[in-house]
Amino acid sequence: MSNYHIKNLEEYFQVYRKSVRDPESFWEEIAEENFIWRKRWEKVLEYDFKKPEISWYKDAKLNITENCIDRHLYAHGDKTAIIFEPNDPSEMAQHISYQELHDRVCRFANVLLNQGVTKGDRVCIYLPMIPELPVALLACARIGAIHSVVFAGFSSQALSSRINDSDCKIVVTSDGSYRGNKTIDLKGIVDEAVLSCPGVKTVLVAKRTNTEIAMIENRDKWLQPLLDQASNNCEPEIMDAEDPLFILYTSGSTGKPKGMVHTTAGYMVFIAHTFKNVFQYRENDIFWCTADIGWVTGHSYIVYGPLLNGATTILFEGIPSYPDFGRFWEVIEKHKVTQFYTAPTAIRALAKESLEFSEGHDLSSLKILGSVGEPINEEAWHWYNDNIGKKQCPIVDTWWQTETGGILISPIPYSTPTIPTYATLPLPGVQPALMDDEGRELKGNQVNGRLCIKFPWPGMARTIWGNHERYKETYFSTFENYYFSGDGALRDSTGYYRITGRVDDVIIVSGHNLGTAPIEDAINEHPAVAESAIVGFPHDVKGNALYGFVILKETGESRVQDNLRKEINQIISEHIGPIAKLDKIQFTRGLPKTRSGKIMRRILRKIAEKDTSNLGDTSTLLDPDVVEEIIKNSL
Ligand code: PRX
Repeated sequence: MSNYHIKNLEEYFQVYRKSVRDPESFWEEIAEENFIWRKRWEKVLEYDFKKPEISWYKDAKLNITENCIDRHLYAHGDKTAIIFEPNDPSEMAQHISYQELHDRVCRFANVLLNQGVTKGDRVCIYLPMIPELPVALLACARIGAIHSVVFAGFSSQALSSRINDSDCKIVVTSDGSYRGNKTIDLKGIVDEAVLSCPGVKTVLVAKRTNTEIAMIENRDKWLQPLLDQASNNCEPEIMDAEDPLFILYTSGSTGKPKGMVHTTAGYMVFIAHTFKNVFQYRENDIFWCTADIGWVTGHSYIVYGPLLNGATTILFEGIPSYPDFGRFWEVIEKHKVTQFYTAPTAIRALAKESLEFSEGHDLSSLKILGSVGEPINEEAWHWYNDNIGKKQCPIVDTWWQTETGGILISPIPYSTPTIPTYATLPLPGVQPALMDDEGRELKGNQVNGRLCIKFPWPGMARTIWGNHERYKETYFSTFENYYFSGDGALRDSTGYYRITGRVDDVIIVSGHNLGTAPIEDAINEHPAVAESAIVGFPHDVKGNALYGFVILKETGESRVQDNLRKEINQIISEHIGPIAKLDKIQFTRGLPKTRSGKIMRRILRKIAEKDTSNLGDTSTLLDPDVVEEIIKNSL
C-alpha cells in the first residue's frame, strides 16, 4: 500500500501542495493501490457543502471485509491478525490468524443472516473488548448490515435511546464483562434497555464471564451454538461506495446523541492510508491502540486501519491499573509492541505512579508513540517521551473526531519535527482553516480561531442518522462552505496547529466527549431540581472534570444536600453512564442569565476554574448579584 515516502519536511510540503492542487488525483492514486474493487468508480469526488452532500468514489462497488481479510489470505493466511490480551494477565493471550478471522467473521455473518438480518439493517453491538466485538463489526460489514456499536460503559437508558434512534432489530452482547477485579452485568443492562425498545426481536449473547443470567425465551440466544452450526464461508455482499458502513453516536449540544453515519469506500481508503502513514506501518509491526472499540478510535485504528493493512492489532480487554499500574508496559514487553497509541488521560494517570512500573519492563520494541482524544499537556508529553519512548520514539499527537472518521492533523514520524502540545500539520489531502468570530477565514500564520476544514476528505461522516438537517446545522451552517469542527486552534508562526479545546457545549472528560445538555437533562429529572448548568474545569488526570450548578426547588439543610449530590450523580449514571458523573455540585439560588434567558456559561466556567479576576461585563445580566453569591459559595 502507498506510502508518502516522505523523508523530510521539505518532501512533506511537496506532497502536501500536490494534494491540495489536485485532491482528486491524490485520492484516486491512493484508491488504485492494493484494494479489491468489484467495480471501479465513475467519479472520484462530488460534493456540495451547502446541502451538504459528499460522495467519494461514486458508483464503485466493493466489500470492506474482502479488503480487511480475504485480500491477505493468500500470502498471509497464517499471520496473526488479532492478539487478544485478556483482562486477567494469567489468562492466555489468543492469537487469531487472518484465516481464523475469516472463518469466524463468516460464521458470525451467517448467524446474522439466519436471524433475518439483511443488507441495510442496523445491528446494535454492546460488547466488551473480546474477540466477538471486532468479529461482530466485520460480520455486519460482510453482509452489508450497518453496525452501531455502543460503548459498553454506557447505561441502559443511553443504550436504549441509541437502539431506538437507529431502529436496531438485533442486539449483540455478552453475559458479562470484566473490568479489573470487577465483573459487570452487561446482559442485565441490555435487558433493562430492551424493555423500552419494541423493535428489538433478537438478543445474541456471547459467553465471557459465565455469570448466571436470565435468558428470555424466543428473544435471547446464546451465540456460540449458533456459530458452531454456521458455515465458515459467506460470500461478501457487494456494496456501493456510499452505502453506510456504520453509525457511531457522539454527544452534541442537545440531549439527543448524534448518530454519525460513515460510508464504505471513502472511509476504507482514508483509514487504510492514515494508519499506514501516521504510524509508518511496516510488515511485522505489532500495533496497539488502547482505546475501546466503542469509540471511533477503536473502529478506525484497532479494527479497520490495521486489518486493511494486513497488520497485527492488539485487542486489550483490561485497564491500565490492573493488576497494577505496570499493565500497559507489561503488555508492550510481552507482545513486542512497535506502535503504541493511547490517550493523554491514561498517560497522566500513569505518570502519577512510580517510575518503577515502567522501568521494570523492556520497552525497546517501541518505535512510535501516539496520543489522541484531547490536548496533551506539556508535562504528560515529556513524561511519555522520556520514560516510555526513551526519547527515541516520535510522538504523533493526532487530532481528529468521530465525525472525521480518521486522523486529519498529525506529525508524520521522522519527517515532521514534533513540539509538545502541537498536533503540527495537516495530513496531505486535508485542508484546515481557522475562522474568526465574523466568519472570515484567518489567513497567514500566528492566528487563533475556530478550526474548520474547507475541502472534503474521504473519511468524513456523510450525515446524522435520520436527521440530515441537524448534520447541516451542526457542521455546515456556522461558516458557509466550511466543515466546522467545534474546536478552537491556533496556527503558530511556522504554520503548526495547536488545538486549544472545544468552543461549544461539549466537554472532554478523560478523553470522552460529553455534551452538557444531556447531563443537564438528566439532572433536571430529579424531582428536587429546578434547573442546572454544567461546565468543565481543569483536572490533573481527567483533563477536565464536571462542575454542576444546580438550582433546587426548595433549599434544604446541608445533610440533605449531600444526599442530593449522591442522587444527582446516580441519575446521571443511569441516564448516561458513570463517566458523566459530576466532581463538584454547587447548589445555588440562581444562574447568571442574560435578559433573553441564556445562561452565561463563560462566567460559570471562570468560577469553576477559580479565575474570577476578569469576568467581563456582568451588568447586562438579569440578576448581577447572583454572580457574587455563586463566587462566594463556590467549591
Ligand atoms: O476536541 C477534540 C478532541 O476530541 C474531540 C473529538 O472527540 P471524539 O469524537 O470522541 O473523537 C476522539 C478520538 C478521535 C475533538 O473535537 N481531540 C481529539 N484529538 C485531539 C483532541 N484535542 C486535542 N488534541 C488532539 N490530538
